[in-house]
Amino acid sequence: MRSLDRRSFLKSITMAGAGVLSPVILNADSKIHSPRTPTIKNPYSFFGIHQQGIATPAQKHIYFLVLDLHTNSRSDIKEVFKIWTTYASKLTIGENVAPYSKNILIPTLDTGEADSLNPSNLTLTFGVAASFFDKLGLASARPKLLKDLPHFPRDQLRAEFSGGDICIQACADDPQVAFHAVRNLVRIARLKVTMKWSQMGFNSSENNDTPRNLFAFKDGTVNPRANELDKVVWVKDGSWLDNGTYLAIRRVQMHLETWDRTHLKGQNDTFGRMRDSGAAYGKNEEFEEADITALNEKGETIMPEDSHVFLAKKTGMQILRRSFSFASGIDSRTGQFDAGLLFIAFQKDPMQFIKIQNALGNVDRMNEYITHIGSGLFACFGGVSKKSGDYIGKALLG
Ligand code: HEM
Repeated sequence: MRSLDRRSFLKSITMAGAGVLSPVILNADSKIHSPRTPTIKNPYSFFGIHQQGIATPAQKHIYFLVLDLHTNSRSDIKEVFKIWTTYASKLTIGENVAPYSKNILIPTLDTGEADSLNPSNLTLTFGVAASFFDKLGLASARPKLLKDLPHFPRDQLRAEFSGGDICIQACADDPQVAFHAVRNLVRIARLKVTMKWSQMGFNSSENNDTPRNLFAFKDGTVNPRANELDKVVWVKDGSWLDNGTYLAIRRVQMHLETWDRTHLKGQNDTFGRMRDSGAAYGKNEEFEEADITALNEKGETIMPEDSHVFLAKKTGMQILRRSFSFASGIDSRTGQFDAGLLFIAFQKDPMQFIKIQNALGNVDRMNEYITHIGSGLFACFGGVSKKSGDYIGKALLG
């Protein structure tokens, strides 16, 4: 594909986004200010050593989008990432991506549905998959650890929820703010990328309690502490991925109807934790560490050996889980809820996730109630500095 200089590229995608060929569109004199005047500041700046939306507290909503490249031109994609950086820095402070023009006979440069909304703790996180490198002739820069996830026991992956070249994770406490951000990022790049799959999700809790998943269990209790993130999450190898991480995503269907027919003891045994308090078997409080070696008077382990927590903890692996529930209507094939967990985990080495998933494999008692139907592995760049000329992915794309 022909490589474009920045100005003509901007112009072409702006016009394509607008759907109108009008020279007025790039005329700065005709611009007026955006109507957005946020009253609440977003504490999560787009700029920093690391990308936000990883170690920052999970918001209430996610819009996760996976894109395919529609170009093999590295310079086109470089321009896309530059524009995304500019846009992301505006969106995260509650500004529109561009002010409106006085000329009302052309489409507005921002789609507008976040006008009068606060940024609602919006974070935007970008990552690239193994296929990104092959398509852009960057194979030698692909980290050895970045390859498609292996097939796991009981996987029933569907093409419509798997694969893709680029991911954008938008999280906010307002679903409209998250969607608006993704919509505008895609709109400006529509000639260079196509949409592959997406998923909305939600988390709910009061008073900063651990949110409950759709099985009603507190989900996210055990996660690395702030002082463990260098050990567990952040890549520190001097490569372009320095201060970045690997994002593993699984769209896990939860068979709620089957679960709801299971008695409470069976549900507790599935996790090795108590549904009401979140405490591990043998403990009283949610945050008391589970002891998978503790035995009862009969010499059996107190936590069922096929329980989810027993098996995950036994691997000794740590990952940073940041998952969201989803409810996406009815599964037309079964007539049941299409609902589950958009499982997202960050780790400095995908093997941390792979080892746990293999251990859960056929053995996890929870498998009776779930099916993994979507999957992806992405390398998430390190953060962007405020230095002029820096942009997301610069260390890779130059
Ligand atoms: C629908 C899918 C899943 C559900 C409903 C689920 C639910 C839970 C729950 C309720 C807990 C206990 C509370 C907590 O520490 O958060 C837990 C712990 C955990 N889960 Fe999952 N999980 C799912 C999938 C996975 C997957 C795919 C992995 C990784 C491959 C995983 C890894 C872990 C780990 C590492 C822990 C902490 C274990 C420990 O105590 O050390 N989970 N999960």
